[in-house]
Amino acid sequence: MNQEHLTSLLSSIQDPDLGSTLGQLGAVHSVEVNGNKVRVFLEVVPPLHWIAKRLDHDCKALIHANYPNAEIEILVREAEGAPSTGRVFPSIKHLIAVSSGKGGVGKSTVAANLAAALAQRGASVGLLDADIYGPSQPTMYGMADQQMRAEKSPEGKVIGYPNEAYGVKVASIGFVMQRDQAAILRGPMLAGYFTMLVEQIVWGELDFLIFDLPPGTGDIQLTLTQRIPLTGAVVVTTPQEIALADVRRSIQMFNKVNVKVLGVIENMSHFIPPDLPDRKYYIFGQGGGQQVASEYKVPFLGEVPIDVRVREGADSGFPFVLDPESGSLGDSFRDLAQRVVQQVRIAQSDARTATISIEI
Ligand SMILES: Nc1ncnc2c1ncn2[C@@H]1O[C@H](COP(=O)(O)OP(=O)(O)OP(=O)(O)O)[C@@H](O)[C@H]1O
Ligand SMILES: [Mg+2]
Repeated sequence: MNQEHLTSLLSSIQDPDLGSTLGQLGAVHSVEVNGNKVRVFLEVVPPLHWIAKRLDHDCKALIHANYPNAEIEILVREAEGAPSTGRVFPSIKHLIAVSSGKGGVGKSTVAANLAAALAQRGASVGLLDADIYGPSQPTMYGMADQQMRAEKSPEGKVIGYPNEAYGVKVASIGFVMQRDQAAILRGPMLAGYFTMLVEQIVWGELDFLIFDLPPGTGDIQLTLTQRIPLTGAVVVTTPQEIALADVRRSIQMFNKVNVKVLGVIENMSHFIPPDLPDRKYYIFGQGGGQQVASEYKVPFLGEVPIDVRVREGADSGFPFVLDPESGSLGDSFRDLAQRVVQQVRIAQSDARTATISIEI
């Protein structure tokens, strides 16, 4: 057992998200050998917790296959050079917008379940309900009667604290105004609330902050996409042509302001009757999300069927994906979360490669 052989073994392991080997990624930082003890230092593209267990398993399995008596310790840390999210959100690693051109396609539902699925996999997650006209997250997270704790900072600025449920920190305009009041807010007042929500919430350290955007491609969406250093956006659609037209506008908006589109999600893809589980009904048409994704050469992140349990979860303040009996319907949300993180990791890996080649 020697360092060179172990390094070459470990270099051949694939990063499951990035499709490259640890060797290609420069992830095998060093290997120490002392008798039958091996200590491996890896540097991986974050988020760390997402990938650490898997790599720990793969590395140990491969070393044991070659050296059954080895005592192995794998130490994983984040590779440097991840893009910074800047001044406004220094303690947040990835900012992801959930958007759509059209209203009512299930953005808020997807955002709520995505946040919950990420938190369940061990990420620290915030959810910012940026829909100041019709905030949904207080209801979807069972916080409709909660207020937001706020105080004055030593500099005299008002700062607010998110409320927390299911391991997700949630901030919403719904916490600072009466129900039904949002619709009548106009102009400067609205802008003021929005700025407060975006800039004056104390989130603490987060792996992900998910923005639930209001529908459309108007002023608020533009302001947000320009002012916030988004890691990327996911675009939610339903399969029918009338929704797809709006999705195209949405993707074009993100392209224009240089925000990476992480992919398209198709919601309400089909209906499976509970009493006829072998049947699938394509109520809104078939394949629209996939089609629009390939049209714009962005990833298709998956589909979620229309199911009463999703709607019930949303109305009763419980993100459905957390239900231990959520089964294959829950898997569709978990798979989405997996693919979103994969795209975030790919984007970071590309950005790192670009930085490294500039340095050279
Ligand atoms: N896959 C689904 N199955 C069943 N019901 C769903 C599904 N997705 C969303 N819904 C329901 O559809 C309605 C609209 O969803 P949601 O509020 O998430 O859409 P939205 O795009 O955020 O709307 P808005 O444009 O108003 O912000 C909600 O009642 C929600 O519970
Ligand atoms: Mg919504």
